[in-house]
Amino acid sequence: MEVVEILREASNRIYANVKDLPGTDNAAGDFGIGAGGDTSRNIDIIAEKTVLDYLKEINFDCIVLGEECGRVEISDKSKGFVIMDAIDGSANAVRGVPFFCSSLAFATENKLSSITDGVITNLSNGEMYWASKNKGAFFENEQIKVHNKDPIYKIVGINTSGSSIELMNKMHPIFENHNHTRHFGANALEMAMFARGLMDIFIDFRDKIRIQDIAAGYVIVKEAGGLLLDAELKPLDADLSYQTRVSFIAAANQKILDEIMSQINQ
Ligand code: IPD
Ligand code: CA
Repeated sequence: MEVVEILREASNRIYANVKDLPGTDNAAGDFGIGAGGDTSRNIDIIAEKTVLDYLKEINFDCIVLGEECGRVEISDKSKGFVIMDAIDGSANAVRGVPFFCSSLAFATENKLSSITDGVITNLSNGEMYWASKNKGAFFENEQIKVHNKDPIYKIVGINTSGSSIELMNKMHPIFENHNHTRHFGANALEMAMFARGLMDIFIDFRDKIRIQDIAAGYVIVKEAGGLLLDAELKPLDADLSYQTRVSFIAAANQKILDEIMSQINQ
């Protein structure tokens, strides 16, 4: 079975196991602080267990790097890492806001740039995005590309959650200049929607995002033809450690990147 098929099956199983939970008291149960540093909710634990059980069932030779469970060695003959954010957008999921997803990626080395496969499933409706290196990105069996033409409405995604006053001041012209700014609350799904052409650019300059939140989006955005850069506008890369936090910008093309970057107060 190809790696991407394994990740797709694991994602389908998450959807089957959590689809009735969002917005219920049962989603919220508190399991203490997880490996990624946030409170682990019952819905996170159920979703992670679904993936771990499946990978054990098929004896997949890998090490899982989960946002809640931490590092789990499924096999001692590991071929690589499964980077798991079983629920991205946990706050939305617990409150019942229909914007959250699962994000599963496979990396051969301890680097974002070694990711070969990624799958993001919109857990409010089961729609799936996936990509494998050099094989393209897909949404529900259709190949997807970033929105590479002059947009009728320019949609600028910006993650502002927990932003400092300094960062908000820097970004202020983007909000003021009649861009249609959006922030939905699940970075992985926002990256997938950007890759599908529903946004022209997506920015997260907070220095807060974890590897688990962007790993699958990394390969999906790249395979859809998007530019994926760090805050210095160099190709985005990072190691897979639990301490790593990144800032990034995903842009459909150089023109929109230059246009939006020229508006940021330096
Ligand atoms: C969160 C989401 C959210 C972002 C947070 C992340 P989680 O992931 O991606 O959009 O603003 O920084 O922590 O905790 O729901 O997996
Ligand atoms: Ca999560």
